[in-house]
Amino acid sequence: VKRKLVRQVAQQTRTIETDCLEQWIEQYRGESSKGKCAAYIPALKEADPTQLGICVIGPDGQISRAGNYDAPFTLQSISKVISFLAACKHHGIANVLEQVDVEPTGDAFDSMVRLEMHKPGRPFNPMINAGAITVSSLLQGNGVQEKFRSFQDMVEGMTGRKHQINEEVYHSEWQTANRNRSLAYYLSATGFLACPVEDALDVYIRQCSLEVTAEDIAKIGLILAHDGYDPVRKEQLFDKEKARVTKALMVTCGMYNASGNFAAFVGVPAKSGVSGGIMAAVPPRGRSGELPFAGGCGIGVYGPAIDQYGNSVAGVALLKHMASAWDLTIY
Ligand code: DON
Repeated sequence: VKRKLVRQVAQQTRTIETDCLEQWIEQYRGESSKGKCAAYIPALKEADPTQLGICVIGPDGQISRAGNYDAPFTLQSISKVISFLAACKHHGIANVLEQVDVEPTGDAFDSMVRLEMHKPGRPFNPMINAGAITVSSLLQGNGVQEKFRSFQDMVEGMTGRKHQINEEVYHSEWQTANRNRSLAYYLSATGFLACPVEDALDVYIRQCSLEVTAEDIAKIGLILAHDGYDPVRKEQLFDKEKARVTKALMVTCGMYNASGNFAAFVGVPAKSGVSGGIMAAVPPRGRSGELPFAGGCGIGVYGPAIDQYGNSVAGVALLKHMASAWDLTIY
């Protein structure tokens, strides 16, 4: 009861943050006209491009939400962070990194050029499609169902609720996945897949199709910000070292070939997905107790119109403004 009261009080005194977020959402919603919903997965094209929503969660459970914060969307590449954590939990970081490196590429997320250019073809990092397909093949379990289950368990352990696949998005991607299919066959030929090719691809596409909201990814961001500890439920879900490697990957590769710009003008570990989600992990900032969410926070943003890099246009614009106003940068 006491904890609930503390949370309610925290929420009431935090309406200033919510007011700011509501104002900024309306200010940046129009930015979506500079982008388009992803069309290479046909089902994603159906989203309303003008949607923009945000959810911010602090360590005391305080939540600020604004705009289309409750719109469901599929994880897409944000799933790469979670599958990497799940694979590391099962095999240990060192074993996973024998199969996938931790270097940014400067290429598009679905690029295949470096796989053959750099022998022996170990994918450059777990945030690009090639690396993520390798990671999916490493998930615990035999066969698609078990491997996908271990991914789902990892997500649900962090969000505290059940999630379903968006079947329409799943089938749409499965039918149009020739590029990922070719990456997967190449990885298999070079020895960087730990299970049959079509199984790895299926697990990968399922994890991309899992449906979440901005609040779910904000929760995951908060746990990463606190190095694997869930400050709301007071539970260590994975160890600090895994959280730190993952956040380093998010900083260097999480926003693909726009990661440098994002680091310079937002400055927090983040991961985007082509459905328009962005998950960010803001660590505690000791500079001033006056700052909003000074104890760190997780941020979930949804805005389905994306730019040429695959990142939500309005979402990035909103985060840039927020980072400057609330002094979010880690640098
Ligand atoms: O494999 C794909 O192309 C998608 N399922 C995910 C790509 C993605 O989200 C890249 N993100 N910005």
